[in-house]
Amino acid sequence: MIPTYDEGWHEDAVVYSLDVKTFNDSDGDGWGDFQGVIDRLDYLDELGVDCLWLRPFYPSPLRDNGYDVADYRGVDDRLGTLADFQELCERAHDRDIRILTDLVFNHTSSDHEWFQRAREDPDSEYHDYYLWTDDLEGAYETINIFPDREDGVWTYDEAAGKHYFHQFYHFQPDLNVANPAVQEEIFDVLRFWIDQGADGFRIDAAHPMQQAKGHHGHRLDDPMGLFKEMRRVVRDEQGDAVLLAEADDQPENLGHYFGDGEAFDLLFNFVLNVHLTYGVGVKDTWPLYRANEILPDIEGFGQWATFLRNHDEWNLLKLPNETIDHAREYFGDEEGDSWIFGRGHRLRLADMYDADHDRIAMAHSLLLSLPGTPVLLSGDEIGMGADLSLPERESVRTPMQWDDSENGGFSSADPADLYNPVVDEGRFSYEHVNVADQRDDPDSLLSRVQRLVHAHHDHPVINDGEYTIVDSGHKDVFVHRIDHEGTALMCVHNFADEYREPVVGFEVPDVATEKVVGTGGYHVEDGGVTFLLDPCDYVWLEADL
Ligand code: NOJ
Repeated sequence: MIPTYDEGWHEDAVVYSLDVKTFNDSDGDGWGDFQGVIDRLDYLDELGVDCLWLRPFYPSPLRDNGYDVADYRGVDDRLGTLADFQELCERAHDRDIRILTDLVFNHTSSDHEWFQRAREDPDSEYHDYYLWTDDLEGAYETINIFPDREDGVWTYDEAAGKHYFHQFYHFQPDLNVANPAVQEEIFDVLRFWIDQGADGFRIDAAHPMQQAKGHHGHRLDDPMGLFKEMRRVVRDEQGDAVLLAEADDQPENLGHYFGDGEAFDLLFNFVLNVHLTYGVGVKDTWPLYRANEILPDIEGFGQWATFLRNHDEWNLLKLPNETIDHAREYFGDEEGDSWIFGRGHRLRLADMYDADHDRIAMAHSLLLSLPGTPVLLSGDEIGMGADLSLPERESVRTPMQWDDSENGGFSSADPADLYNPVVDEGRFSYEHVNVADQRDDPDSLLSRVQRLVHAHHDHPVINDGEYTIVDSGHKDVFVHRIDHEGTALMCVHNFADEYREPVVGFEVPDVATEKVVGTGGYHVEDGGVTFLLDPCDYVWLEADL
């Protein structure tokens, strides 16, 4: 069954990001698989999410977790078959859950057949799929995105006898996206996955895609033109398919990605991410005011995809310089081992908030009450922690912790055969942090996140109304309000470790006010509302004006 046609579905959706490899292993080989995800659809449905973003599952040497794609039209056979992917889409659609897949067009794996043919034969049509130089001295230079892992953006290839250009790891040669033949390949790949059942795509590295590239440092003449064409292609296949951009660009450039409503439908809000997660962690609301000031107004032509953490490092670069230094110290582990790429922490939310479920729940309450399409990271809803003994960003990519049986219920394989080990030591071990323990406990983090997801769905006003920040009179209490057609949603969050009693103006009679969700108390009188807030309390109030 195909979900009900709805061009605006993504505006009210809650997205759940997962890696098939680490979510649930149905056949006991130590790797998660599509059937494993199908087996857990009940869980996802209950949580209330209505869209899954599946991280790359294509054949890949997995030197960058699958973001090094070796074949755009296949499925890594340890994860299942193409038929299994189709079945997952169908089963998810039966529940009105949509599927976004992750497509990486900035680069391929160096194992991709295109690159192999390109390097072996300079006359092959594939040679111009990539960017080469035989004059390194005269070639365009720029900073590699993984600066402490790679020396630069050019690597010598023996077979070709030339250097090729790469903005990420050396095993990820950049595609020449200005080449019309490459663009045709991109369009075909998009069509292919829509035909298999996908409802849209997260487009990886949309910012590097349109950066200067190659020997002459050429930019696409009309970068938004390419993205608009990509959107046209997917919409021709499925009228309500969406494109979500991963583009961690400067705030002043972000508005362009929507192409006046004709390019990306959604864009990850990296600016809000770092300010929100930092502010909640340091118990101060100024970062949220700052994010609001520096973000462009996108009303009427696009929507943010908002998030607390993702599967990469927590990148701090959008904070002011002195704040980056503070965040490095404040959130880092004692050995400084969590710091990576000179810009962020390879930690999960629970590490950063010292395993405090009240604070994690409050951060989710903010995420789900602010305008945007919230994107949850699998495992954050139960408070999973990182494993810093794993290399680089693999620390935050350990298997989902389902229960307290061996391997956390993720797999029946020998622990040595798991794709990544489960967290089995310390306070974040699967014995202490797992779905089964939290599922039936109404006070658990999981239950609180679930209530918040449902509250978000019940209040489309969050994305339809007018958003304002309200002065709470306390630097550690954040109040925002959303007004729409005679109703107001007033949300308050106490970041402090102490009790707070903010009073804010609210011109409504007490009887017209209803508590939607939250842990704190309130009373309405004399044109104002007084909130009674223990540490990390939050309240959403709804009122008819
Ligand atoms: C962003 C992805 O989220 C990250 O994991 C990857 O390394 C880069 N893009 C390169 O594809």
